[in-house]
Amino acid sequence: MCGIIGYIGTENAVPIILDGLKRLEYRGYDSSGIAIMNNDGFTVVKQKGRLSALEELVSRKPIEGFIGIGHTRWATHGEPSDINSHPHLGNQNKIAIVHNGIIENYKQIKERLEQKGISFVSQTDSEVIAQLAESYHTGDIVETIIRTANALEGSYALGIICLDEPDKLVAIKKDNPLIVGVSEHGNFIASDVPAVLAHTNKVYYMNDKEIAVLTKTGVEFYDMDGEPIHKEPEIVTWSLDRAEKGGYEHFMLKEIMEQPRVLKDTIQSAIGDGDNRRIIESLDISRFNRIVITACGSAYNAGMVAKYVFEQLCRMTVEVDLASEFRYKDPIVDKDTLVIIISQSGETADTIAAMREAKRRGATTLSIVNVIGSTIARETDYTLYTIAGPEIAVATTKAFSAQLVLLYILAVSFAGKLGKISKETEEKLLEDIASLPDKATGMLERIDPVQKYAATCVGYKSIFFIGRNIDYAIALEGSLKLKEISYIHSEAYAGGELKHGTISLIEDNTLVVAISCCERLYEKIYSNVEQVISRGAKVLFIGNCIKAVPGERLEIIELPDINELFAPSLSVIYLQLFSYYVAANKGLDIDKPRNLAKSVTVE
Ligand code: G6P
Repeated sequence: MCGIIGYIGTENAVPIILDGLKRLEYRGYDSSGIAIMNNDGFTVVKQKGRLSALEELVSRKPIEGFIGIGHTRWATHGEPSDINSHPHLGNQNKIAIVHNGIIENYKQIKERLEQKGISFVSQTDSEVIAQLAESYHTGDIVETIIRTANALEGSYALGIICLDEPDKLVAIKKDNPLIVGVSEHGNFIASDVPAVLAHTNKVYYMNDKEIAVLTKTGVEFYDMDGEPIHKEPEIVTWSLDRAEKGGYEHFMLKEIMEQPRVLKDTIQSAIGDGDNRRIIESLDISRFNRIVITACGSAYNAGMVAKYVFEQLCRMTVEVDLASEFRYKDPIVDKDTLVIIISQSGETADTIAAMREAKRRGATTLSIVNVIGSTIARETDYTLYTIAGPEIAVATTKAFSAQLVLLYILAVSFAGKLGKISKETEEKLLEDIASLPDKATGMLERIDPVQKYAATCVGYKSIFFIGRNIDYAIALEGSLKLKEISYIHSEAYAGGELKHGTISLIEDNTLVVAISCCERLYEKIYSNVEQVISRGAKVLFIGNCIKAVPGERLEIIELPDINELFAPSLSVIYLQLFSYYVAANKGLDIDKPRNLAKSVTVE
């Protein structure tokens, strides 16, 4: 998975591309590169490592040109190295490409081309695209791209420039995102909107197998028969500063702090006069006898929380499946199943495959997605958008919180429609949900205790999270967050399961984070807390119904009161901050944790 960008216009493409790549680094950061086309041909600069390495290289040997492409890489085929970095060129140095995706039949293509005497320099699947395009090149770049795309199996978003047609930048996509941005001074292709927002908010979202031909002054679109197609641009309302750090040390902290606003906007869109409300109201839940939720990572954890809320309110069976499992398990879904697909990016490969499998089996699909125009958003029958804005930190926070509130509202609406709750209860529940943003604001004004406690936790090798019922579901997210960014081993357990194994791991000074927002289960979780303390553990007890008093081994952090079904939205905020400050005190690269990527567009 990678980020690509391209520019053609009246300004020097180099700083524009480098700046765009900065905003795409969340898509991968193993290496980066740029190819500029000018009267002397191509100048390609590419380098293993972070974008800063490329910037330094370019600053030492400045290049200039009005057309170019850039790439930031997350390695899939071929190790991260200078040679495997993009852009890639054909043998004759006529065509340069950047690619996001995976070419599944690259070995066959490579063998075929090698037999014709074409030699390859990298181990990547992507290089075959440049070589193939060059071997097919007829002098007409649109024809070339069509022939090339027809020969490729797999996924791609491609930016292509060709020496024979120095006034064009060409792009095509399949199963990976690509947008076209248009501005006064020139035109862009990019994997995502923030990469071009400094220049324009007018964008076209590309569909699979559409071809874009950009010139200095405009853009034209074609289908795979080479016929022109008409597309309407959209105006993006995200401003660039919303995609910047906003003064915080890390995007993750900025995004945690943005949560009250995100909650408010998302709730408003679903219970006020927003598109989400219209979609929720249009859904006839009585058509379905089952709900299946499928997602990956944190989005899966949001599904785990939702299971408790849906089952409690709707009295309906809800199954939650990891998308990577769902896609291969012969899932029990049919036309009577509502499959809810949750994904921040809307581009996670496993989740896309699960969605398509559900559709193939006749299920109705409803997605909860943050990225407008993303694959999942476009392909599901219904889409609810989280109004979280661009999320840059790899570890999700605000998008997760926005997913939760949409799921709550959906559950309340379904329960009302199914007659499982009265109108008054429905209203009361929506009021509880609407109170979350203010409660979150209050919590974010009192982050000192979490910050201080986290500072004492950097030395742990392992941290356990426990909770019961819905507190267990959010413990899963607390644990995932911690391991993602602090590299401390961590596991979440249902409190009642401790005695079935995990308790053997509790020894002197093990840290256990316990969550307690289900008042009716307080005594149960408290007895788990006592059990681990008596075996030498230290406990950080987070909740809103805690009756215990703090002690040498017991730290207590209070949460505001809220209906237990919606409490995960509050507990998760301190769990996120706990992980953040542990990682910050370890001096780690919080926004780009090792080996992880924000948007996993490969299997
Ligand atoms: C990656 C990210 C996770 C994220 C998961 C699902 O693994 O590192 O933070 O939860 O993908 O992403 P999605 O975009 O589908 O929500």
